Amino acid sequence: MKKIILLYWGMGGNVEKAARKVYSMFDREMIDIADVVSFDMNTLGNYKLMIFGSSTIGAENWIDAKADNEWNRFFRKLDKQGSLNFTAAFFGLGDQVLYPDHFVDGLSVFQEEMDKRKIKVIGQWPVEGYKFSDSDGIENDHFYGLALDLDNEPELTDERIKAWTKIIKQNL
Ligand SMILES: Cc1cc2nc3c(=O)[nH]c(=O)nc-3n(C[C@H](O)[C@H](O)[C@H](O)COP(=O)(O)O)c2cc1C
Repeated sequence: MKKIILLYWGMGGNVEKAARKVYSMFDREMIDIADVVSFDMNTLGNYKLMIFGSSTIGAENWIDAKADNEWNRFFRKLDKQGSLNFTAAFFGLGDQVLYPDHFVDGLSVFQEEMDKRKIKVIGQWPVEGYKFSDSDGIENDHFYGLALDLDNEPELTDERIKAWTKIIKQNL
């Protein structure tokens, strides 16, 4: 049976912490986890769902394809594969207090990359309950994926992850 792969970047901070929590919500035999640099692209065929987790760390890191951005490298490698037969879901870390006009903007990059490749995305998440003024990461009052703010709302993280992974499991 095909499994889920959870890919995250970067390491050692909030993203990795959130990634471990998301991973822990699934039965071990259902899911593998890897940072995006270590992921072996030759195993892609083993997976029916890819969960991408990252933080928003400023537009320049995302937009410049030549920048030292591991996600851009990953997407370029993806294009060297044959047909892509997986569904995608995302979670994004951000900070509503320091970046209220750009809260989890990075989610939009994942969405655009999936749109380009006609990959179905599941796990959209309602904007209710967050306090921010603008975000590139929303459409129709939903974030493109789960928005997490470990800087300001760490106490809400577990319940958000629990509810979101429930939706993912229902949509598999
Ligand atoms: C330089 C820098 C830029 C950031 N820009 C944004 C931003 O535009 N939008 C946002 O929601 N969060 C932004 N953040 C907040 C991070 O996304 C947030 O702190 C996240 O939890 C960091 O994850 P990490 O510990 O895995 O690096 C920024 C943080 C830094 C350090």
